[in-house]
Amino acid sequence: MSAHNEQAEKVTVRTLRQMKQRGEKIASMTAYDAAFANALERAGIDFVLVGDSLGMVVQGHETTIPVTVDEIIYHSRLVARGLGRAMLMADMPFMSYASAGDCLKNAARLMKEGGAEIVKLEWGELEIDMVARLTECGVPVCAHLGLTPQAIHKYGGYRVQGREEKAAAKMKEDARALEEAGADILLLECVPMGLAAEITRDADVPVIGIGAGPDVDGQILVLYDVLDIFPGKRTRFSKNYMEQEGSIHGALETYVREVREVSFPTEQYAFR
Ligand code: KIV
Repeated sequence: MSAHNEQAEKVTVRTLRQMKQRGEKIASMTAYDAAFANALERAGIDFVLVGDSLGMVVQGHETTIPVTVDEIIYHSRLVARGLGRAMLMADMPFMSYASAGDCLKNAARLMKEGGAEIVKLEWGELEIDMVARLTECGVPVCAHLGLTPQAIHKYGGYRVQGREEKAAAKMKEDARALEEAGADILLLECVPMGLAAEITRDADVPVIGIGAGPDVDGQILVLYDVLDIFPGKRTRFSKNYMEQEGSIHGALETYVREVREVSFPTEQYAFR
C-alpha cells in the first residue's frame, strides 16, 4: 500500500523530542490494520500504536489480558504496510515482559517480525529494570503509567489514578525513574490534568496523554472510539469524531488538527 507521506522525513523518538522542545503537539492513535493505518498516515498522524486494546475492540474480549505477542506481531505487520512517515509503536502484551529474558526476547520479536520502531510496556514495580535493559540493547521504549489496563483485576475496575496525594507523588517519582532508566516516551492514562501537567513539565521526554487533559505534549485515542464503532461502554475521555465529521478521513484529519491546536481535549474529556 503506498503511503501518502513517502517523501516526508520519518518520525522517530528524536523527532518527537524536538516537537516537545518546540512546543508542537504530537498526535497519535491506535490502529490494527493497513487500511486504517494508511488513513491515519494521510491525516498526518505522528505515530500509530498497535495497542493491546485490540483484544477488546477487534477480538471482542472483556479485557486486554488474552492478547498474545503473536497477535501484536500480526497486526503490527499489517499496520507497518500502511505507514510512511509515522512511527510504529507496538504494545508488549500482559506477562510478555515479566522477566528480563522474556522482555528482551519479545521486544526483539515485535521489532524484527512486526516492524515496530518502539515498544510500549505498562508500568509496574519491575519495569524500571526492564526499561534500562531495553535501552542498553538499543530498543526505544514508551512507559505507560496511570491506569494500566493489564492490571485491571488488581484495580477491580477502570478508575482515574493519582488523585490521592501519596499516589500522585509516587507517579511523579516513577515517571522520573523511568525517564532516568531510558524511557523515550511516557504515556499517561486516566490521570488528573494537574498531575499530568506537572509530570510533563518535569520530563525532558515527550508525555502523551489519554484522559490526562490538554497540558501534555501530545494525545492518543483508540481508533474505534474516535469512529464510534466500539460496542462497549464509551470512555469519558474519548471523543466521537464521526459526530461532527461525516467521513472517516474527515474525522481523523479533524482529530489531528484539534490535537495540534489544543482544541482537544477540552475539560469535558479530562479529569480533576
Ligand atoms: O492498548 C491501547 O490501545 C493503549 C492505549 C489506551 C494508549 O494502550
